[in-house]
Amino acid sequence: MDFRRYPESNFCSTPIKIGSLFPIVVLLSLLSTLSESNQVGDGVTIIDATGKYVMPGGIDPHTHLAMEFMGTETIDDFFSGQAAALAGGTTMHIDFVIPVNGNLTAGFEAYVEKAKISAMDYGFHMAITKWDEAVSKDMEVMVKDKGINSFKFFMAYKGSLMINDDLLLEGFKKCKSLGALAMVHAENGDAVFEGQKRMIELGIMGPEGHALSRPPQLEGEATGRAIRLAGFVNTPLYVVHVMSIDAMEEVAKARKSGQKVIGEPVVSGLVLDDTVLWDSDFQTAAKFVMSPPIRAPGHGKALQAALSNGVLQLVGTDHCTFNSTQKSLGIDDFRKIPNGVNGLEERMHLVWDTMVVSGQISVTDFVRMTSTECARIFNIYPRKGAILVGSDADIIILNPNSSFEICSKSHHSRSDTNVYEGRKGKGKVEVTIAGGRVVWENDELKAVPGRGKYVKMRPFNYLFDGIEKADAEYLSSLRAPVIRRTMHVAA
Ligand SMILES: *[C@@H]1O[C@H](CO)[C@@H](O)[C@H](O)[C@H]1NC(C)=O
Ligand SMILES: *[C@@H]1O[C@H](CO)[C@@H](O)[C@H](O)[C@H]1NC(C)=O
Ligand SMILES: *[C@@H]1O[C@H](CO)[C@@H](O)[C@H](O)[C@H]1NC(C)=O
Ligand SMILES: [Zn+2]
Repeated sequence: MDFRRYPESNFCSTPIKIGSLFPIVVLLSLLSTLSESNQVGDGVTIIDATGKYVMPGGIDPHTHLAMEFMGTETIDDFFSGQAAALAGGTTMHIDFVIPVNGNLTAGFEAYVEKAKISAMDYGFHMAITKWDEAVSKDMEVMVKDKGINSFKFFMAYKGSLMINDDLLLEGFKKCKSLGALAMVHAENGDAVFEGQKRMIELGIMGPEGHALSRPPQLEGEATGRAIRLAGFVNTPLYVVHVMSIDAMEEVAKARKSGQKVIGEPVVSGLVLDDTVLWDSDFQTAAKFVMSPPIRAPGHGKALQAALSNGVLQLVGTDHCTFNSTQKSLGIDDFRKIPNGVNGLEERMHLVWDTMVVSGQISVTDFVRMTSTECARIFNIYPRKGAILVGSDADIIILNPNSSFEICSKSHHSRSDTNVYEGRKGKGKVEVTIAGGRVVWENDELKAVPGRGKYVKMRPFNYLFDGIEKADAEYLSSLRAPVIRRTMHVAA
């Protein structure tokens, strides 16, 4: 790929608005990384990006493709989910490997198989669902040999994925020693269990019972607890899907005190509210069921504000799709509705329309929140998240003047429903280039199974800088042990 005629300054996270001085800028050859060249040779495609933004492809830090969950499997696999992503300007995602009966290696092997049909680049986080010596040893293997640098712990899902504080502390300590980022799903699982019992006793069995059983304070409590425990261990923490003001304020407080905490809102939490859960049609309501739940009106706006002022850092989706047949598993009990919503295809458009068009964030901020910051946190910058010589050729062209419309009839996910059905907005990704290939242009998708590569991620990201100093300071602050003279009392 040849990238010429850019101004001299570099654009680590800066989008490029192509004005009349730079009429034709994207010159493609078959190379998959960006290089400097002054020659336009044969086999070069020229794309006119006049008046449009040329930006690094989006990176979604939070997805679940081909995941077995709640007695079924997500309807989007590594191909259909990624096809949807590419059509929406996302060129990489990081998915969560789920261990097999707690076995990390077996889980990793299963996901390597699932991901063989990938059409775009991807990385893996790993979920930790139980704790013993074998798990602890395997974490080391994952970090040192398999390219995984983050582990997620569940404070919710009592009786299945949930781990208690003692194991959470063990996990945090292990992450710290490996330079891996600890992530948490922060809801108080014991209290959620109690909340569910309460709803059942009250005879509230529909989708609204889902939200009522796990209110924001349970998310706030677990977020605050995880943050304090990570602070106690002195290791960085990444809170996935911050859905409520309660959780966001815990992140804000910790960051203000200097603690290394990352807060990830997801698109559904930013732009939807929970009123739909009271819809009298089960399907209409059930498609919005996810955990933590989409919150009452007001939370989304507050999360947007937190994103724009730096309290929250990047936007994911928690893309975890189930079609209407699968959602029907919970037709008479909200506890059996498979949890999850779509978002891989819609994320870039919705963040642009909600945040940039409204003037809450700049175009540069948009690139940071949808791509660059994710690459930095997961230690793959500047290979990803940037348009620089040597970076992978993952590039999108967004036309701020065209508009998008979301519709389950035309989306690329395999689900028959879409939680953003009917939404229209300004700004459209007109071209997606992944690994140097044009895969989306003129509303035509050319996703090819097997083209996507696994991206290994190194441990010790920038959040670990200074951790040792803080440890040393802590030790000296103890003013201990105190040397005491032993008193011998004569008998
Ligand atoms: C978008 O609209 C602006 C203002 O009308 C104009 O300057 C710009 O050239 C347009 N861009 C495209 C790609 O049409
Ligand atoms: C975990 O799975 C791997 C691969 O399937 C297997 O070789 C290993 O023995 C398992 N470990 C345990 C502790 O069962
Ligand atoms: C949902 O997916 C399942 C499993 O692939 C399939 O059997 C069912 O027909 C799908 N339902 C709809 C409405 O597409
Ligand atoms: Zn998730």
